[in-house]
Amino acid sequence: MPNNIDFNQDYPVIDRSNELYSRAQDLIPCGTQTLAKGPTQYVNGIAPKYLLKGQGSHVWDVDGNEYIDYNMGIGPLSLGYAHPLVDEAIRQQLANGITFSLMHPLEVEVAELLHEIIPNADSIRFSKSGADVTSAAIRIARAYTGKKKILCCGYHGWHDWYVSTIALSAGIPGSVKDLTYTFSYNDIDSLIRSIDDDVAAVILEPVVFEAPVHNFLHQVAETCHERGIVLIFDEMWTGFRMALGGAQEYFGIEADLATFSKAIANGIPVSALTGKSEIMQVLEDEVFFFTTFGGEALSLAAAKATIQIMKDKNVISAISTTGEILKEGYNRIARDLGLDYTKTVGYNFRTMVTFDGKAGNPLELKSFVQQELIKRGILWSGMHNISYAHSIDDIQYTLLAYKEVLSLLKEAVTSNTVFQKIRGIPVQPTFRKTSEFNTKPRNL
Ligand SMILES: Cc1ncc(COP(=O)(O)O)c(C=O)c1O
Repeated sequence: MPNNIDFNQDYPVIDRSNELYSRAQDLIPCGTQTLAKGPTQYVNGIAPKYLLKGQGSHVWDVDGNEYIDYNMGIGPLSLGYAHPLVDEAIRQQLANGITFSLMHPLEVEVAELLHEIIPNADSIRFSKSGADVTSAAIRIARAYTGKKKILCCGYHGWHDWYVSTIALSAGIPGSVKDLTYTFSYNDIDSLIRSIDDDVAAVILEPVVFEAPVHNFLHQVAETCHERGIVLIFDEMWTGFRMALGGAQEYFGIEADLATFSKAIANGIPVSALTGKSEIMQVLEDEVFFFTTFGGEALSLAAAKATIQIMKDKNVISAISTTGEILKEGYNRIARDLGLDYTKTVGYNFRTMVTFDGKAGNPLELKSFVQQELIKRGILWSGMHNISYAHSIDDIQYTLLAYKEVLSLLKEAVTSNTVFQKIRGIPVQPTFRKTSEFNTKPRNL
């Protein structure tokens, strides 16, 4: 898609966004259904709050401003907004029905596709959200092992068993909180220290931004295997991005269970739990995991089309190439400007811009960069969630914008005026206390 956003030379007018947001006050808790899309994650007063339309890698807000989007729905838009083939598949299915009174053939067809591409997918169950399938995986692990405790590393959704490990855990009984503990990525000892005879499952995001070192993932798998613990890979981000078969394929590791959502269907809500037959068989007659919309056909039609396009067009490799140009480009600009306090890290398919505390409050640095990118028509909250629709034009324009914005950042840091230059309420932290929180010393 040709880039035509350079018209956006000033901070956008966001009157309609603000008007909608004022109507949401006291009506919608926190004003948002998704924390990462809400106003705490954008400079409040400068950034748009509501989007109306998307096409490819571009979005339009309710005031008519256009942006290149680097959030892509917080992950789902793997091919880009309004992909013609996915939308056509949805339209065709819509003409025949959405949800039925018996099972639908797509349940079998998409399961067969996943069986073909995901290493551990002997058995597959569909649901709607990421939290549905991570929670089902935990229940299955408990049923299969007869044990109760969970060790986790990463974010795994809103349900009790996981949210008990973060600070926003009111409403969860202490007896549940006592069953889940965290360990640290790339620290096998932190995992081993936490294991006791009652650990049913280890669940982790195979990678977030940091690469595994010293064979960390293989060591985790071996530790679980030796101790009769179910290994669950939460592939919400790595699935259909890192490789078609996710991190399991990329690293050559078969997890006992794996969970997918986000990129699988280019924006429609669907999730999948995959696993080894021996473990998944508890779903036959011991574990209850059924839901009204599990076999809903629009989502499965979208998943089938999305996966087919990914296979036909070698989407994974294209995303990696685009992501690498952006990542390397950012790092080159920062280096050329002598900014040793910011860089882009992560695997090419999903990178993150980091700001080091030595140059100032990282959230203020991020807010300043975000505000200036928004002025230049780029919707950004620190991530590059690259889709197949991000074009070389998009990336080149973005790098030009970064060059200007990082020069401005340098001036602001040097003159100690970053905070004064933020024209709204700065970005707030997402969670409080996630790392080194609720860790479990051995045998406690
Ligand atoms: C790694 C990971 N696991 C689980 C979830 C939960 O998914 P959902 O928000 O669809 O319930 C998320 C959501 O962002 C995630 O990033």
